[in-house]
Amino acid sequence: MGLRIVVFLAVLVVVTGSPTVTIRPEAASEDTSAHPNSLPETAEETETPGQQKVSIVEELEEDVMATGKLNPNHYPAQRAAKVVQHYLNTRYGSPYRVFFLHRVHSGNAEDVADSGRKYQLEISVQDLISTNTEKCSAEVLFPGGEQQRSPHVQASCEELRKIDTKAQEEALYQQYKTNPSLLAAHLPDSYGHINPEMKPFWHLGAVASSFIMLNESTENTLFNMAQVANVTQLATENDQLRFDYHILLHEMVSQDIIHWKLQVSWSPSGGVKVLQMEQLPHCHHCEKPPNTN
Ligand SMILES: *[C@@H]1O[C@H](CO)[C@@H](O)[C@H](O)[C@H]1NC(C)=O
Ligand SMILES: *[C@@H]1O[C@H](CO)[C@@H](O)[C@H](O)[C@H]1NC(C)=O
Repeated sequence: MGLRIVVFLAVLVVVTGSPTVTIRPEAASEDTSAHPNSLPETAEETETPGQQKVSIVEELEEDVMATGKLNPNHYPAQRAAKVVQHYLNTRYGSPYRVFFLHRVHSGNAEDVADSGRKYQLEISVQDLISTNTEKCSAEVLFPGGEQQRSPHVQASCEELRKIDTKAQEEALYQQYKTNPSLLAAHLPDSYGHINPEMKPFWHLGAVASSFIMLNESTENTLFNMAQVANVTQLATENDQLRFDYHILLHEMVSQDIIHWKLQVSWSPSGGVKVLQMEQLPHCHHCEKPPNTN
């Protein structure tokens, strides 16, 4: 069914596309690497809708052929590599440690009998806060079968894991553990315009949203966190700080903006845990004026 929609879009581009449109399949990923210090979701803002559609058309061809050596700049390798970013955040993320995919160096995909499709990748991952970058090897297995299951990831990024954030984490923990007035904040949509005091909570929201994106990712998705809409601190329980987050995710293939509510716990020793996640119903009038739909 997904394929039919893509084919329809392809026809639409051919029919309505202006004759000056040039197909540049690498446009999307080049833009991504042009913003090394912002999260890559800013990349597509610079693209016209026409270019987006062209990227999706490219997609269709690659879906059929994406076995063997992959073009590191094309969607199949980029999507698998993005899953590694989410995995690393779920394992090692904190309010002072947020990983993102910096670059894909090489990739290979193969069908694995009875279990799905396996991607082997060489990627560079960057820690947003220290800006340390490391080249890592990773393997992503997208399980096959009817039922949608989360990808399995193996990755070795030993240096990034060792970045020492203990002192900052402990200070933040002590400040908010004993905070008599619980934190409640609306965070802006672009990193860089956030009150410095609030940045750790933006980072925590980014890490928490990786739990959803890891769980929801398939071979045909490319998720980015679009926005941490707001965060509300809840009463501390079992020595864990707890927060309600409202987060917006952007799925680039379908161009959907998806709202999620998360309950997150964190402490320096307990790490980040997502206690509850709930996808909120689609709301078509929230993002755009009603008459553009
Ligand atoms: C992951 O997603 C599945 C559905 O796709 C859901 O049943 C499961 O509860 C999710 N896992 C977590 C940890 O929420
Ligand atoms: C958080 O933001 C969402 C989306 O903008 C909004 O619907 C929700 O009411 C906000 N929640 C709080 C507690 O401010």
